[in-house]
This record gives sequence, structure tokens and C-alpha cells, in this order.
Amino acid sequence: MTSLPAARPRIAALPTYSRAAGAEAVRWRASSNESTVPPSPAILEAIARTGARAHLYPTLTGDDLVTAIRGRLGVSDEQVVVGGGSLALLQLALTAYTGPGTEVVLAWRSYEAYPILIGIADAEAVRVPLDADHRHDVEAMLAAITPRTSAVIVCDPNNPTGTTLAPDRLRTVIEGVPEHVLVLLDQAYQEFDENSIDVADLVHRHPNVLVFRTFSKAYGLAGLRAGYVVGSEETLRAVRASAPPFGLNAIAEAAALAAWSDEAHTAEIVRSVTASREAFRAGLAGLGLATPDARGNFVWLPVGERAVDLEELCVARGVSVRAFPGEGVRVTVGNLEAEAEVLAAVMEFLAR
Ligand SMILES: Cc1ncc(COP(=O)(O)O)c(C=O)c1O
Repeated sequence: MTSLPAARPRIAALPTYSRAAGAEAVRWRASSNESTVPPSPAILEAIARTGARAHLYPTLTGDDLVTAIRGRLGVSDEQVVVGGGSLALLQLALTAYTGPGTEVVLAWRSYEAYPILIGIADAEAVRVPLDADHRHDVEAMLAAITPRTSAVIVCDPNNPTGTTLAPDRLRTVIEGVPEHVLVLLDQAYQEFDENSIDVADLVHRHPNVLVFRTFSKAYGLAGLRAGYVVGSEETLRAVRASAPPFGLNAIAEAAALAAWSDEAHTAEIVRSVTASREAFRAGLAGLGLATPDARGNFVWLPVGERAVDLEELCVARGVSVRAFPGEGVRVTVGNLEAEAEVLAAVMEFLAR
């Protein structure tokens, strides 16, 4: 009897990505931290123009986008790698630098993709609980580093809690990680936080740090898949070597370039998100539900055991949100009508 090929046991045992309840049927999607603003005319024009040339390969390594990004950030061509979303780049880095017998330290709860990517790389995830304020517990994370540690993931702002590390706390964690250990600083939501870091200076001082950013959130291109990673030339070399050729499709590259140049459009996305985020948090506080300081395009409702109940109430009111059973609910912001429905759902929830 023949048997089918067997996947590596670690791959066969990987958890799958969760899907938001009701996301397809609802009126508003507040479950995947997407932008609520569609692409600008300039971005749509770039997409159409490039679509007409879809029979041709894109540039080998997203060269035009690399040039635009490195120009604004003040780094060299060799210090930027672009790809089909920041998650794909994170996977390349984990695959290049971690692996069997090594450990990757991360805060938890954090982005659900991390344990999956660590599993694909065949490394072990060492989850360090967030502190009482839903922030990365810097001292506990540093204490979790052992001779087996190959990488430390810092998610800032953290998904799903929205919390950030103050600049001195971020410095403490980065300076506390030994230089031979990779630091993966995931800043998918950085543009929504008024505090920003000088990436060029950071990676110059700390060549073991890679900073991941995306066009999916503040640039509103989640459906096209484009992201970038910035680091020292030395550390990025292995990431670049692991990247597939033509890893960024031509339409994503053209749209990302247009979005990068359309600063007014990005500013409008950020403005609408931050305004509705603060109004939503104030509304929740008015109902008696305190939420952690939120710096992304989402708010964390730490309702604990009843998270799924609240998710169901939101879906019933036409809004998909993301429940983390037993922990809380994450709500993407940027649409005042949707937030009004979630506030009504929370009121109902609290009255029960
Ligand atoms: C913390 C974090 N990193 C990365 C990503 C994925 O970004 P991309 O769409 O660039 O792969 C997300 C998406 O939700 C995220 O929350």
C-alpha cells in the first residue's frame, strides 16, 4: 500500500489563522484592522496603469519602492527589503535566523501569526505574559532570554491590545538584548502613534534590529500585500538571500509607491482613525468600560470570559469584531457609524 507524502510533524501540527465571526455577512468590518478608507484616485490610477502591463515581470526586488523608502528614511538601498506584506518578510527573517533548537521570545497576548511563523521555522516560542497594563513586560522578556534564544519579537503598537512601549522602555528592551540575538520590531501600526522612532539611527546603533512596516494599515492597501523591513546591511543580507525573486507583484509595488507619495491620503487615514479611536474610547469609558491606551487603528476591550458574548452582540448589530476567547475583543476603528453600533452592543452587554 502506498502512502501520501508526510509533512514535517511541526507543520502538520500548526494552528490555523482564526477567522472573524460573520465578517462576510456584516455591514461593517471591524475585525481585521483594515483601513476604512478606499484607495485615493492617484493610487487607483497607478493600479490601472500597471494592470495594463501585467504580462511583464515586476522589478526583481521591488527596486523602485526600495529607492522611495530608503530616500525618505535616510538609509541605503541595502538597508531595505520589500515584499508581499510585512508578515511574509517576518517569516523570511525567522526562517533565516531561528530554527531547530532555538527559542524566540515574544510578549503574549500578541499577534496570532507569530507562534505560527515560529513553528514554520521549527523554533520554540517562549511567551512572556503582558504586564497588568497590557504592555510588553520588558524585564520579564529580558529575563526569558537564554543561550538558546535566537530572536526576540517586539510588537509596537501591540496587536491586539494597542499598547506601546514608551521610548525609554523600548530602548531598555533593545539595549538589553545581546547583540548576537535578533530583535524583530514589528511596527505595522506605527503611523497611528504620534511617537515615532528614527529608524535609520536605531538600526545604525543596533545592527541586530530589524524594523517591519506595512502598506496594509495606514496606507490602506491590505488587499494588495506590500510591506518592508529596514535594518543593517549585514543583518538584512540573509533576509534578502532568502527572499523569492519578484516577491512583490507589480501592481502592489506601483500602488505602494503611489500611496507613499500621496501623503495627504495617508494623513487623512491617520486623522480619521485617531479621531474616531479617541471618541470610541471616551464612549466606552462613559459606559464604564476602561480600555488600555490605544495607539493602533483598533481598541482592546478586556472583557475576559465573556468575549465571545460581546462579539456576538456586535455581529448582531452588523459589525464584525475579533474576540479572543477568555481574554477580550479587538475592535478596528475608523468608522463612526460602526463604533456607535459597538457602543450600543457594549451597553447591552454590560446590562446583562
Ligand atoms: C502586528 C502585525 N504585524 C503584521 C501584520 C501583517 O501585516 P501585512 O499585511 O503587511 O502582512 C499585522 C496584520 O494584522 C499585524 O497586526
